[in-house]
Amino acid sequence: MNYLEEQIISIGKIRIKNHLADIGIETVRAEIIKGLKAPKKYISSKFFYDEKGSQLFEEITQLAEYYPTRTEKKILSSFVKNSSIDFTDLSIIELGSGDSSKIKLLLKQISQNSLSSIRYFPVDISASAILKSSEELMQEFELKSITGIVADFVHQLNVLPKAGRRLFCFFGSTIGNFRKAEQKKFITELGNEMQAGDALLLGMDMVKDISVLEKAYNDEKGVTAAFNKNILNVINALCNANFDIDDFEHIAFYNQAENRIEMHLKALKEMDVSLNSGFNIIHLRKGEKIHTENSHKFTDKDIKSIEKWGNLKIKNIFTDENRWFKLIYFVKSR
Ligand code: SAH
Ligand code: AVI
Repeated sequence: MNYLEEQIISIGKIRIKNHLADIGIETVRAEIIKGLKAPKKYISSKFFYDEKGSQLFEEITQLAEYYPTRTEKKILSSFVKNSSIDFTDLSIIELGSGDSSKIKLLLKQISQNSLSSIRYFPVDISASAILKSSEELMQEFELKSITGIVADFVHQLNVLPKAGRRLFCFFGSTIGNFRKAEQKKFITELGNEMQAGDALLLGMDMVKDISVLEKAYNDEKGVTAAFNKNILNVINALCNANFDIDDFEHIAFYNQAENRIEMHLKALKEMDVSLNSGFNIIHLRKGEKIHTENSHKFTDKDIKSIEKWGNLKIKNIFTDENRWFKLIYFVKSR
C-alpha cells in the first residue's frame, strides 16, 4: 500500500499505475486514528491487504471451511456458455481483483480470437497482488492489454477507464465488506459511472446456516486469525505504530440482527499503543475490541435493492446447488 509516491510500472503489454498517492499518507493516517479514537474502536478492512495479507487471504480461499471461493468458482467454471455476453472488444474491469483466479476461469472459456481483443483492468488496493496476477495472466493468455490500477475503489471510481464496452466484475462478495449505507453509495456511484451497454457481474454470499458461516471465519488452522491480526502490522507500517499482534485474540461471530459475520481483535491486556512515533497514544482496556471487518450475507431482497440503487436490470442469476452463493449479471440500459 504505497500512499507516498505515484508509480508507473511497464512490463511488455502490462502497465500498472499507483493512484494511492493521490489520497496521500496523511489522509490515511487521519482515517486510521479516527477509528482507533472512536468510542467503539474500528479499523477499515481495506487495511488487511498488504503483501502478507493478500497471501493470507489466498490461503483462506483454499481452506475446507471457507466455502465462498470454491462455490463461486464452481458457478464461474460453466459461466460463459450459459451467459449471453459478447466478449469481443470488451474492457473487463475487475474491482478487488486479488489473485485474479476468478477472471482466469472466465478467460479459459473464451476463444483465442476474442481473447486477443480483450482489455483487462484489475483494480486493487494491493499493488503486490496486481503485479503478481498480471504477470501470471500475461503468461497464460494472449490478451490485448493488461492495465493494473492500484487504487481505493471506494474513493477513486473516477480513475476507471471510460472507453469501450465495459464489463465490471466484483467477485468474492467483497461488497459484503461494506456497511449497508456504503453498499448503497457505492452501487449508486457505480451505476452512475456505467453507460448503456455496460454490465456488472456481482458475486454475493447468501444468508445460510450460522454454523457454516461461523466455521468459515474460525478455521482450525488459524489462518483467518493470522489474517485478522496482520492488520495491526499494516497499521504499524502505515502509522509508525507499535501494536504487538500477540497482545490480541481473533474473534469472529455471526450477528443475526445485521446478517453479517463480524471480525474483531480483542485486547488480552490493558495497554497504551503509540502511533505517529508517539504523537498519538491509544489506550486499550483488557477485553476491549477493535472491529476489523463486517462480512454481510445477502437475501434475494438485497439483490433487488442493488438493481434499484444502481439503476440496473437483472439479466441472469447464477447459483450453486445449495443456493449458498449468487452471481448476478446486471445490465445498464440507459
Ligand atoms: N476478488 C478476489 C479477492 C477478494 S479479497 C476473490 O474473489 O477471491 C478482496 C480484495 O479487494 C483484495 O484483493 C483487496 O486488496 C481488495 N480491496 C479491499 N478493499 C479495497 C478498496 N477499498 N479498494 C481497492 N481494493 C480493495
Ligand atoms: C474479501 N472478503 C469478501 C472476505 C470475506 O469473506 O468477507 C474477507 C475475509 N475475511 C475473513 N475471511 C475472509
